[in-house]
Amino acid sequence: MINQAKDWVFSDPRLKEMRQDYAAYTEEDFKVWKILFERQMPNLPKAASKAYLEGVKTVNFTADRIANFEELNEILLKTTGWAVQVVPGLIDDDLFFGLMNNKRFPSSTWLRKMEQLDYLEEPDMFHDAFAHMPLLTNQHYVDFLEKLSGIALKHIQDPWAIQLLSRIYWFTIEFGLIREDGELKVYGAGILSSAGETKFSLSDEPKHFSYDVRHIMSTEYWKDRFQDKYWVIDSYEQLFNSLPEIEEVLEEMLKEKMEN
Ligand SMILES: [Fe+2]
Repeated sequence: MINQAKDWVFSDPRLKEMRQDYAAYTEEDFKVWKILFERQMPNLPKAASKAYLEGVKTVNFTADRIANFEELNEILLKTTGWAVQVVPGLIDDDLFFGLMNNKRFPSSTWLRKMEQLDYLEEPDMFHDAFAHMPLLTNQHYVDFLEKLSGIALKHIQDPWAIQLLSRIYWFTIEFGLIREDGELKVYGAGILSSAGETKFSLSDEPKHFSYDVRHIMSTEYWKDRFQDKYWVIDSYEQLFNSLPEIEEVLEEMLKEKMEN
Protein backbone atom coordinates (compact mmCIF):
# COMPACT_ATOMS: atom_id res chain seq x y z
CA MET A 1 0.00 0.00 0.00
CA ILE A 2 2.78 2.38 0.94
CA ASN A 3 4.44 1.94 -2.42
CA GLN A 4 1.38 3.06 -4.32
CA ALA A 5 2.71 6.53 -5.05
CA LYS A 6 4.99 6.54 -8.03
CA ASP A 7 6.51 9.92 -7.64
CA TRP A 8 10.24 10.46 -8.13
CA VAL A 9 10.81 10.78 -4.47
CA PHE A 10 10.20 7.11 -3.71
CA SER A 11 12.79 5.86 -6.12
CA ASP A 12 15.37 8.34 -4.91
CA PRO A 13 18.66 6.52 -4.26
CA ARG A 14 19.07 8.43 -0.98
CA LEU A 15 16.14 6.45 0.40
CA LYS A 16 17.10 3.08 -0.95
CA GLU A 17 16.16 0.28 1.39
CA MET A 18 15.54 2.61 4.29
CA ARG A 19 13.28 0.86 6.79
CA GLN A 20 12.84 0.40 10.48
CA ASP A 21 14.60 -2.71 11.77
CA TYR A 22 12.45 -3.22 14.83
CA ALA A 23 14.25 -6.38 15.93
CA ALA A 24 17.50 -4.44 16.14
CA TYR A 25 16.35 -2.19 19.00
CA THR A 26 18.31 -2.92 22.15
CA GLU A 27 17.24 -3.00 25.76
CA GLU A 28 18.78 0.42 26.18
CA ASP A 29 16.67 1.76 23.28
CA PHE A 30 13.49 0.52 24.95
CA LYS A 31 14.62 2.02 28.23
CA VAL A 32 15.36 5.40 26.63
CA TRP A 33 11.95 5.47 24.92
CA LYS A 34 10.26 4.58 28.21
CA ILE A 35 12.11 7.18 30.27
CA LEU A 36 11.43 9.96 27.77
CA PHE A 37 7.82 8.89 27.32
CA GLU A 38 7.13 8.70 31.05
CA ARG A 39 8.87 11.96 31.69
CA GLN A 40 6.95 13.95 29.10
CA MET A 41 3.52 12.27 28.97
CA PRO A 42 2.26 13.45 32.39
CA ASN A 43 2.90 17.09 31.33
CA LEU A 44 0.87 16.80 28.18
CA PRO A 45 -2.78 16.50 29.22
CA LYS A 46 -2.45 20.06 30.55
CA ALA A 47 -0.01 21.40 27.99
CA ALA A 48 -0.65 19.78 24.62
CA SER A 49 -3.24 20.55 21.98
CA LYS A 50 -6.35 18.36 21.89
CA ALA A 51 -5.47 17.18 18.39
CA TYR A 52 -2.12 15.93 19.67
CA LEU A 53 -3.64 14.14 22.67
CA GLU A 54 -6.30 12.51 20.52
CA GLY A 55 -3.58 11.63 18.02
CA VAL A 56 -1.49 9.85 20.67
CA LYS A 57 -4.48 7.59 21.34
CA THR A 58 -5.13 7.02 17.66
CA VAL A 59 -1.54 6.00 16.93
CA ASN A 60 -1.37 3.89 20.07
CA PHE A 61 1.89 5.10 21.55
CA THR A 62 2.80 3.61 24.92
CA ALA A 63 5.78 3.76 27.26
CA ASP A 64 6.68 0.12 26.88
CA ARG A 65 6.94 -0.09 23.12
CA ILE A 66 9.06 1.94 20.78
CA ALA A 67 6.80 3.19 17.99
CA ASN A 68 6.46 0.55 15.29
CA PHE A 69 6.29 2.24 11.90
CA GLU A 70 4.56 -0.60 10.14
CA GLU A 71 1.64 -0.50 12.54
CA LEU A 72 1.73 3.27 12.59
CA ASN A 73 1.54 3.50 8.82
CA GLU A 74 -1.53 1.30 8.67
CA ILE A 75 -3.25 3.66 11.08
CA LEU A 76 -2.06 6.86 9.39
CA LEU A 77 -2.98 5.67 5.91
CA LYS A 78 -6.50 4.93 7.10
CA THR A 79 -6.82 8.20 8.99
CA THR A 80 -5.33 10.88 6.72
CA GLY A 81 -3.62 9.00 3.89
CA TRP A 82 -0.17 9.81 5.27
CA ALA A 83 2.66 7.48 6.22
CA VAL A 84 6.11 7.61 7.71
CA GLN A 85 9.15 7.29 5.46
CA VAL A 86 12.40 6.23 7.10
CA VAL A 87 15.28 8.55 6.22
CA PRO A 88 18.99 8.57 7.08
CA GLY A 89 18.95 11.39 9.63
CA LEU A 90 18.92 14.93 8.30
CA ILE A 91 18.11 15.02 4.61
CA ASP A 92 18.37 17.53 1.76
CA ASP A 93 15.58 20.05 1.38
CA ASP A 94 14.36 18.65 -1.94
CA LEU A 95 13.86 15.23 -0.40
CA PHE A 96 12.39 16.61 2.82
CA PHE A 97 9.75 18.67 1.02
CA GLY A 98 9.37 16.10 -1.75
CA LEU A 99 8.36 13.44 0.75
CA MET A 100 5.89 15.65 2.54
CA ASN A 101 4.41 16.86 -0.72
CA ASN A 102 3.71 13.16 -1.27
CA LYS A 103 2.17 12.63 2.16
CA ARG A 104 5.20 10.94 3.62
CA PHE A 105 6.69 12.20 6.84
CA PRO A 106 10.47 11.71 7.07
CA SER A 107 11.64 10.03 10.24
CA SER A 108 14.84 8.60 11.64
CA THR A 109 14.72 5.25 13.44
CA TRP A 110 17.59 5.59 15.90
CA LEU A 111 17.18 6.57 19.54
CA ARG A 112 19.46 8.75 21.63
CA LYS A 113 21.65 7.07 24.22
CA MET A 114 21.12 7.25 27.98
CA GLU A 115 23.79 9.91 28.33
CA GLN A 116 22.08 12.12 25.71
CA LEU A 117 18.62 12.21 27.26
CA ASP A 118 18.44 15.98 27.33
CA TYR A 119 20.49 17.23 24.45
CA LEU A 120 20.75 16.15 20.86
CA GLU A 121 22.43 17.66 17.83
CA GLU A 122 19.95 16.19 15.42
CA PRO A 123 16.47 14.80 15.95
CA ASP A 124 16.18 11.13 16.87
CA MET A 125 13.02 9.08 16.57
CA PHE A 126 11.72 10.12 19.96
CA HIS A 127 11.37 13.57 18.48
CA ASP A 128 10.30 12.39 15.02
CA ALA A 129 7.80 9.82 16.23
CA PHE A 130 6.56 10.82 19.68
CA ALA A 131 6.32 14.52 18.89
CA HIS A 132 5.37 14.59 15.20
CA MET A 133 3.34 11.50 14.36
CA PRO A 134 0.25 11.99 16.54
CA LEU A 135 -0.60 15.18 14.65
CA LEU A 136 -0.33 13.40 11.32
CA THR A 137 -3.83 12.15 12.17
CA ASN A 138 -5.24 15.68 11.80
CA GLN A 139 -6.43 16.39 8.27
CA HIS A 140 -6.05 20.19 8.23
CA TYR A 141 -2.58 19.88 9.70
CA VAL A 142 -1.34 17.37 7.11
CA ASP A 143 -3.01 19.21 4.25
CA PHE A 144 -1.11 22.31 5.33
CA LEU A 145 2.13 20.36 5.46
CA GLU A 146 1.58 18.87 2.03
CA LYS A 147 0.81 22.18 0.34
CA LEU A 148 3.51 24.14 2.16
CA SER A 149 5.97 21.56 0.87
CA GLY A 150 4.56 22.00 -2.61
CA ILE A 151 5.35 25.72 -2.43
CA ALA A 152 8.86 24.90 -1.23
CA LEU A 153 9.42 22.51 -4.15
CA LYS A 154 8.55 25.26 -6.59
CA HIS A 155 11.37 27.35 -5.10
CA ILE A 156 13.79 24.58 -4.28
CA GLN A 157 16.64 26.20 -6.26
CA ASP A 158 16.44 29.40 -4.24
CA PRO A 159 18.05 29.16 -0.77
CA TRP A 160 16.47 32.46 0.38
CA ALA A 161 12.97 31.25 -0.51
CA ILE A 162 13.62 27.99 1.32
CA GLN A 163 14.83 29.89 4.34
CA LEU A 164 11.67 32.01 4.42
CA LEU A 165 9.45 28.94 4.11
CA SER A 166 11.50 27.13 6.74
CA ARG A 167 10.60 29.93 9.15
CA ILE A 168 6.95 29.06 8.63
CA TYR A 169 7.67 25.38 9.17
CA TRP A 170 9.77 26.15 12.22
CA PHE A 171 7.33 28.45 14.00
CA THR A 172 4.31 26.25 13.28
CA ILE A 173 5.11 22.56 12.89
CA GLU A 174 8.12 22.64 15.23
CA PHE A 175 7.40 25.49 17.64
CA GLY A 176 3.75 26.39 17.23
CA LEU A 177 1.19 27.11 19.93
CA ILE A 178 -2.59 27.03 19.59
CA ARG A 179 -5.34 28.72 21.59
CA GLU A 180 -7.98 26.24 22.77
CA ASP A 181 -10.89 27.33 24.97
CA GLY A 182 -8.99 30.50 25.77
CA GLU A 183 -5.84 28.70 26.87
CA LEU A 184 -2.45 28.32 25.23
CA LYS A 185 -1.54 24.77 24.22
CA VAL A 186 1.39 23.26 22.41
CA TYR A 187 1.28 21.57 19.02
CA GLY A 188 4.85 22.19 17.84
CA ALA A 189 6.91 19.01 17.83
CA GLY A 190 10.13 20.72 18.87
CA ILE A 191 8.36 21.82 22.04
CA LEU A 192 6.50 18.55 22.62
CA SER A 193 9.67 16.52 22.70
CA SER A 194 11.22 18.81 25.34
CA ALA A 195 9.84 18.90 28.88
CA GLY A 196 11.78 22.11 29.54
CA GLU A 197 10.51 23.99 26.51
CA THR A 198 6.94 22.78 27.05
CA LYS A 199 6.92 24.60 30.37
CA PHE A 200 8.87 27.60 29.11
CA SER A 201 6.81 28.19 25.95
CA LEU A 202 3.56 28.38 27.92
CA SER A 203 5.00 30.64 30.65
CA ASP A 204 5.00 34.44 30.65
CA GLU A 205 8.71 34.61 29.84
CA PRO A 206 8.66 34.41 26.02
CA LYS A 207 6.58 36.63 23.75
CA HIS A 208 3.36 35.22 22.32
CA PHE A 209 2.02 36.60 19.06
CA SER A 210 -1.11 35.81 17.06
CA TYR A 211 -0.31 33.82 13.93
CA ASP A 212 1.00 36.25 11.34
CA VAL A 213 2.60 34.99 8.14
CA ARG A 214 4.57 38.14 7.34
CA HIS A 215 5.83 38.51 10.89
CA ILE A 216 7.01 34.90 10.99
CA MET A 217 8.69 35.10 7.60
CA SER A 218 10.60 38.17 8.78
CA THR A 219 11.87 36.48 11.94
CA GLU A 220 15.01 34.42 12.30
CA TYR A 221 15.00 31.35 14.50
CA TRP A 222 17.67 29.51 16.40
CA LYS A 223 18.28 25.85 16.78
CA ASP A 224 20.46 25.68 19.86
CA ARG A 225 18.26 27.21 22.57
CA PHE A 226 14.64 27.89 23.43
CA GLN A 227 12.84 30.36 21.15
CA ASP A 228 11.97 33.72 22.66
CA LYS A 229 8.91 34.19 20.44
CA TYR A 230 6.05 31.85 19.73
CA TRP A 231 3.12 32.33 17.37
CA VAL A 232 -0.34 31.18 18.36
CA ILE A 233 -2.89 29.82 15.90
CA ASP A 234 -6.64 29.56 16.51
CA SER A 235 -7.09 26.35 14.54
CA TYR A 236 -5.29 24.02 12.14
CA GLU A 237 -7.67 25.22 9.49
CA GLN A 238 -6.18 28.68 9.93
CA LEU A 239 -2.79 27.24 8.94
CA PHE A 240 -4.24 25.67 5.84
CA ASN A 241 -6.13 28.83 4.92
CA SER A 242 -2.96 30.91 5.20
CA LEU A 243 -1.26 29.12 2.29
CA PRO A 244 -2.22 31.70 -0.37
CA GLU A 245 -0.91 34.45 1.90
CA ILE A 246 2.34 32.53 2.42
CA GLU A 247 2.81 32.42 -1.35
CA GLU A 248 1.99 36.11 -1.71
CA VAL A 249 4.34 37.26 1.03
CA LEU A 250 7.03 34.96 -0.31
CA GLU A 251 6.78 36.52 -3.79
CA GLU A 252 6.95 40.00 -2.28
CA MET A 253 9.95 39.22 -0.12
CA LEU A 254 11.78 37.59 -3.02
CA LYS A 255 11.12 40.65 -5.14
CA GLU A 256 12.36 42.95 -2.38
CA LYS A 257 15.55 40.95 -2.16
CA MET A 258 16.09 41.24 -5.93
CA GLU A 259 15.62 45.01 -5.80
CA ASN A 260 18.14 45.46 -2.98
FE1 LIG B 1 10.91 17.87 13.89
